[in-house]
Amino acid sequence: MQKLEKLYEGKAKKMYATDDPDVLWVEYMNQATAGNGAKKAQIAGKGNLNNHITSVIFELLKARGIDSHFIKRLSDTEQLVRKMTMYPLEIIMRNTAAGSFAKRYGVKEGTPLKKPILEFCLKSDELGDPFINDDGIVALGLASEEELAEISRQARAVNEALKDIFSKIDVQLVDFKIEEGKTSDGTILLADEITPDTCRLWDLKDHSGKIEHLDKDLFRRDLGNIIPAYEEIYSRLKQLADSEGVKDAE
Ligand code: ADP
Ligand code: TMP
Repeated sequence: MQKLEKLYEGKAKKMYATDDPDVLWVEYMNQATAGNGAKKAQIAGKGNLNNHITSVIFELLKARGIDSHFIKRLSDTEQLVRKMTMYPLEIIMRNTAAGSFAKRYGVKEGTPLKKPILEFCLKSDELGDPFINDDGIVALGLASEEELAEISRQARAVNEALKDIFSKIDVQLVDFKIEEGKTSDGTILLADEITPDTCRLWDLKDHSGKIEHLDKDLFRRDLGNIIPAYEEIYSRLKQLADSEGVKDAE
């Protein structure tokens, strides 16, 4: 596989064309951002860890019957994925009240939710990723009714599989964001990344009642260095993958 021209540089990844029109070459960067890019830093080792973490998560999901754009990890910071036409949506699933949900509804962070909540935001840096509901998505032509039903079904299935994965490594899956796209043959698939940048992950190991964040809230809220937390997540996921015979090799 040959790496060709850069197609896009986002806040966390660079996307390159390859000699196969249906395949992209992704490079994970060390850049961390928060507040829609308002806060920015270079954190050595972050690209490497996120590339490893999302690769092993996609493999663990595959073992649970959930397909994604992931093809293979190429190196510490690079992977190959299927090229998708992305839906301009941030698809958020919540199991526990936290972040913008807790703020919006005046609920204490950590309050359990009686059912998982599926939320959508329009993916637009200029507009600050505003909230949008199902009717808005269909009315604006961002996805058809049928596509939205499939995206929602997959988001809930990803949540169930991720809850299983994280509970097995003593981590509470509070909430997360995914993105979905469509391949050239019209298949709707999970894409982008699943990392501690895009999930809230709280350690279930005893910290005397205090929340131990193992995710990007450490950076967003100036609570500490993300690297040891991301290393801890990767090491536990790797152990789970090994115990399940799920491969995580280049
Ligand atoms: P952002 O664009 O939010 O700054 P990134 O730096 O992570 O985010 O850039 C990756 C970009 O690539 C995102 O816009 C994402 O929607 C897009 N993307 C992710 N997976 C695929 C894929 N398989 N095919 C095409 N585009 C993708
Ligand atoms: P929120 O509580 O700030 O709305 O975030 C919910 C979850 O979605 C949290 O795990 C972080 C993730 N997320 C992203 O990955 N990217 C984003 O742009 C936003 C707003 C949230």
